[in-house]
Amino acid sequence: MKKVLLFGDPGIDDAIGIIYALLHPQIDLIGVVTGYGNVDEKQATANATYLLQLAGRPDIPVIRGATGPFSGEVVTYYPEIHGEDGLGPIRPPENLVTNVQRFSAVHELIEKHKGDLSIVDTGRSTSLAASFILSGAELLQSVKEIYLMGGAFNYPGNVTGVAEANFHGDPIATDLVLEKGKNISIIPLNITNRAIVTPQMIDTIAAYQSNPFSSLIKPIIDFYNEAYKDLIPGLNGSPMHDSVTLFAMVSPQYFHFISRRVRVDTSELSRGRTIADFRVKPDDEPPETLDRIAVDFNYQAFANDFMNIMTRR
Ligand code: BDR
Ligand code: CA
Repeated sequence: MKKVLLFGDPGIDDAIGIIYALLHPQIDLIGVVTGYGNVDEKQATANATYLLQLAGRPDIPVIRGATGPFSGEVVTYYPEIHGEDGLGPIRPPENLVTNVQRFSAVHELIEKHKGDLSIVDTGRSTSLAASFILSGAELLQSVKEIYLMGGAFNYPGNVTGVAEANFHGDPIATDLVLEKGKNISIIPLNITNRAIVTPQMIDTIAAYQSNPFSSLIKPIIDFYNEAYKDLIPGLNGSPMHDSVTLFAMVSPQYFHFISRRVRVDTSELSRGRTIADFRVKPDDEPPETLDRIAVDFNYQAFANDFMNIMTRR
């Protein structure tokens, strides 16, 4: 059983990631840190709270994270992909039973689970980078492992020609996390774009009606599939960027990783572009500076796992 602190910006695929984490028998979700990205921080917090309420897990705190990047610039959201409120056609109810906590709770949770914590970040990196600054790199380095959804090591990206949305959203923050963090694994767009969930898979999950999320999963993923029809014509389904990252954390044996030092471009021209030395003979780097980059995975294992977890009772 892995203790997991999940940072994200729900958003449809983050919401499916939270559901996946709640249903997974090997994940003990100890908190969700919500930040801006697909929607604003307030909406992300309401959406995460709603999912935890549906699960009957008010014991799991939702911790309010960053409202924007370190640069202070105005943020663009993505209602055309995630819906007005971030859950496709679903609007969370007004009177949520909340266990919403202030950002300082991140520090307390990391301290409490020192040495035995997995962090997964499926959103912009600002909140995680702020944890490094506020709690100190040493405490964060005691975390067992960090999994980041982000980056694009093959062009194109999804938000610009060269960059993926999470690393593009706050490249200063992502670069800081990569610089200060230890035991980091990156699940980039090259992988997540291939983690397709088809309408047929969703219909099967919906037919089971096996858990509190069954009636939610279909409408939100149907919305996401429709959005992806415009983004990538001809695609049968949509990529579950954030769930496949959680799958990688629980089941790394289905992924092929290579180790390189990764940096993120903070310049304007190619903002958010991931940089790693893929030459046959890369320059030597000290082992502690290397990050693991997923370069291949077993799609069938992902699809089977997704179906198993999403239909659990
Ligand atoms: C990532 O960006 C967000 O929009 C998605 O939720 C995902 O985490 C994909 O680039
Ligand atoms: Ca996300």
